[in-house]
Amino acid sequence: MQEKLYGGRFEGGQDKFFEKFSESLHFDKRLFDVDITGSQAFARALESVGILSAEERATIVASFEAIREEGQDAAYFAGATDEDVHSFVIRKLKEKAGAVADKIHTGRSRNEQVSLDTRLWLRASIESTIEATLGLMRALLVLAQKYPQAVVPGYTHLRRAQAVLWPHYLLAYFEMFARDVERLRQAHARTNVLPLGSGALAGSAFPFDREAIAKDLQFASITRNSMDVSADRDFALDYMHAANLVMLHLSRLSEDWILYSSEEFGWLELSDGVTSGSSLMPQKKNPDSLELIRGKCGRVFGAYSALFVTMKGLPLTYNRDMQEDKEPLFEVAEQTIGCLQMAAIVAQQVVLRPEIPEKACAESWVVATDIAEALSRAGLPFHQSHQVAGRLVLHGIKTGKNPAEFTAAELQAFDARFTPDFVDVLRDPRHGMQTRAVPGGTAPASVAKALREALERIESL
Ligand code: ARG
Repeated sequence: MQEKLYGGRFEGGQDKFFEKFSESLHFDKRLFDVDITGSQAFARALESVGILSAEERATIVASFEAIREEGQDAAYFAGATDEDVHSFVIRKLKEKAGAVADKIHTGRSRNEQVSLDTRLWLRASIESTIEATLGLMRALLVLAQKYPQAVVPGYTHLRRAQAVLWPHYLLAYFEMFARDVERLRQAHARTNVLPLGSGALAGSAFPFDREAIAKDLQFASITRNSMDVSADRDFALDYMHAANLVMLHLSRLSEDWILYSSEEFGWLELSDGVTSGSSLMPQKKNPDSLELIRGKCGRVFGAYSALFVTMKGLPLTYNRDMQEDKEPLFEVAEQTIGCLQMAAIVAQQVVLRPEIPEKACAESWVVATDIAEALSRAGLPFHQSHQVAGRLVLHGIKTGKNPAEFTAAELQAFDARFTPDFVDVLRDPRHGMQTRAVPGGTAPASVAKALREALERIESL
């Protein structure tokens, strides 16, 4: 094991098992790049408080840059036995820059460094998550525009409920992902705050210009309490919450499309590119891409609750438990971004067969509500309209007749309140759809407007 960032206080060495047990380099090496960026800014701060000369600062910053370069090769980490990425980088700095490297931890603790690195890393990861979410949203809008007039059954209880336009259905997901982007931006704002200058927990003893360091590292502001910094992982949990909701929405979309592309529904055709076959059953075309998205929710939700539980009950301020934040956080970001990208590819390549959901509408009683509402529009109290329409549905089911098969005369004979214009209501669900013209409803004009607005909104999200 390598020399540590501490030692004077100890007489005995660490137990070999403990060294291995506590080591985090194998996963926190992901912070290598941001650790260097943060330390370079800290070297400039040390110069400004007179700890480093301009020459020493230049040596340190250049050495860090060389280390960053060398670290691009994974072999750079092979065989390293340092406690964590921060110790690893400092060892490399000592090897490269010599004695001057000993000054780099002046007034700086790993507690704030780990917060800084995590924030720098997460800031970029949130930006990637937002980009990937917007990518999927764009794919959904393109898919909506491909079939602007297609009519599909909307479901409650997974039973055909009322007919809606295909773009209306897709815009429901657009709204979910738009809220996700909002939440991700909020998580970004809470992450984008400079912790450096907090010391171990009590604040640095050197007069750093924290605002200047924030500017150097492009943070929007500085933290207000040093103890809070050492104890805080809220920003990571904020992101994980936002990402978990992204995954929840992706899982529901996947579930829908797994069903809609099944033989039982048959409306969607997933592309060959995102499906797999069976090693035994030659006819199979399985929706594995969507199943994997749905399945990965287990890992991502688990990672979120893992950190949540880790943080619960920790006394202020830093505790080593908090090192357990990284693997769940990395896991959530990696899986969420990957699932978003996968879903966008599925959406770009999926094909709707509009005649099949249209037939599903025609063969069921998705117009029943339209009938009841038309009766009420003609003056019948809704409770009675509901009864009349319900009896007509039962009659249709018993006689094996679809709504479009009823003639005006048959309707009149069934109930005198069915005037001839009811034939139109029964013939085509688009008729009733026209009436749902409130903002947010599925009337074609409302949907066209919502789609136009979505295309504009996405530009400013
Ligand atoms: N590897 C540690 C972590 O990720 C760095 C902080 C160490 N601080 C300490 N007091 N041991 O949490």
